[in-house]
Amino acid sequence: MTGVARESVTVPRLGLMKKEHRKIAVMTAYDASFAQAMDAAGMDALLVGDSLGNVVQGRKTTLPVTLEDMVYHTGCVARASTHALVVADMPFLAFQGTAPQALTHAGALMRAGAQMVKVEGAGVLVDNVAYLSARGIPVCGHIGLTPQFVHSLGGMRVQGRGDEGRRLLTDAQALVAAGVSLLVLEAIPAPLAAEITATVAVPTIGIGAGPACDGQVLVMHDALGLGGRRPRFVRDFLAGRGSIQAAFAAYVEAVREGSFPNGEESYPE
Ligand code: KIV
Repeated sequence: MTGVARESVTVPRLGLMKKEHRKIAVMTAYDASFAQAMDAAGMDALLVGDSLGNVVQGRKTTLPVTLEDMVYHTGCVARASTHALVVADMPFLAFQGTAPQALTHAGALMRAGAQMVKVEGAGVLVDNVAYLSARGIPVCGHIGLTPQFVHSLGGMRVQGRGDEGRRLLTDAQALVAAGVSLLVLEAIPAPLAAEITATVAVPTIGIGAGPACDGQVLVMHDALGLGGRRPRFVRDFLAGRGSIQAAFAAYVEAVREGSFPNGEESYPE
């Protein structure tokens, strides 16, 4: 980056990156210090994920995370990010009510410093996506393994195998038609993610969705080798490196050059 002024990442710029086949590096962030280090490493977007329920609060699921929790952590991250786009998760039930309720909740996250909100699911929720995007709130969709639906899904397992893949493709198209600017694809077969990525006009960000996605996201704690059981799509970027800063930089580089994830780190059909 020496001698080249780094531009802040905006919503239109993410769309341009897809058109120009430049991969998008995203990581979850929950506080100012790590957000600052990720921003300095060249991360394109920081996701204030409701995974904070697991990795920060020690809960079994993301369901108990409140809007107040998300507002607090979004503020912490947004104050430290100078270039990366800040995306904040709408927590469980903050988006599933009426459209005006969803707007009020999204507004609280935007006031805290989010530049985009992320919502899990599709189907009946697509109308709320259209309502928010028409009112100037950039929305990121999230389909596949959606942790807020853990109980209806019967656990944290790979989605979209067989015929169910057609439904996910239709969901992706419906979310894009409703106005999402970004789409997270979690834990789905790599060929399905490649098909969705080639079909939709907005960038796809994969987590356990293979290398063809327009970008990648990892939970920070996973990328730093913390935690117990490691899903196959996780790589420990701290291993063999001397510092957290170097780990973040290695992640950004691996996403940009397309070497993360590899075939072993993806789910086949
Ligand atoms: O909450 C989160 O961290 C997420 C990512 C896993 C995409 O939604």
